[in-house]
Amino acid sequence: MTEAIANRYFRAAVLYAILGMAWGISMAMSGNHTTYPAHAHLLLLGWVSMVLYGAIFRLCPRSAEGTLARSHFWIANVGLIVMIPGVSLIFAGYPDAEPLAATGSIITIASMLLFAHRVWQGTRT
Ligand code: HEM
Ligand code: HEM
Repeated sequence: MTEAIANRYFRAAVLYAILGMAWGISMAMSGNHTTYPAHAHLLLLGWVSMVLYGAIFRLCPRSAEGTLARSHFWIANVGLIVMIPGVSLIFAGYPDAEPLAATGSIITIASMLLFAHRVWQGTRT
C-alpha cells in the first residue's frame, strides 16, 4: 500500500522533471530566460519535492496511513499545476496572473502543512 502511494509521487515527479528540463533547454536555446523562476519551481516542487514526498512516505510508512495522507498527493499536484502557470505569466509580463500564483502557493503550503502533520504523526516512537 505504501509502495503504491510512493510510486504515484515518483511517476508524477519524472513527468515534471522532463517538462522542467525541456523548459530549461528552450530558455537556453532561445536566450530568453525571463520565466526562469517558473522553470526553477516546476523542478524544485515538481521533481525534487515529489521525489522527497514519495521517499519519505516509503521511509516512514506510518506517515502514509489514512485519508489525509492519500489526499496529500492531489493537493500538492493541484497547488503546483495552479502555481506554475501563474508564476510563468507574471515573469512573462502579465502581473494580473498574481492571484493564480498566490492561490497555487497557498495550496502548495497547505499541502506541506498536511505532509508535516502526517510525518510528525507517523514518526512518533
Ligand atoms: C536540462 C536541464 C536544465 C536546463 C537546460 C536548465 C536551464 C536553466 C536556465 C537557462 C536557467 C536560467 C539561468 C539564469 O538566467 O539565471 C535556469 C535557472 C534555474 N534552474 Fe535550471 N535547467 C535545467 C535543470 C534544472 C534542474 C533539474 C533544477 C532543479 C532541480 C533546476 C533549477 C534551476 C534553478 C533553481 C534556477 C534559478 C537559478 C538562479 O537563481 O540563478 N534546473 N535553468
Ligand atoms: C509555496 C512554495 C514556494 C513559494 C511561494 C516560493 C516563492 C519564491 C519567490 C517569490 C522567489 C523569488 C523569485 C524571484 O524574484 O526571482 C523564490 C526563489 C527561489 N525559491 Fe522558492 N518558493 C516556494 C518553494 C520553493 C521550494 C520548495 C524550493 C526548493 C526546494 C524553492 C527554492 C527557491 C530558489 C532556489 C529560488 C531562487 C531562484 C529563483 O528565483 O527562482 N522555493 N521562491
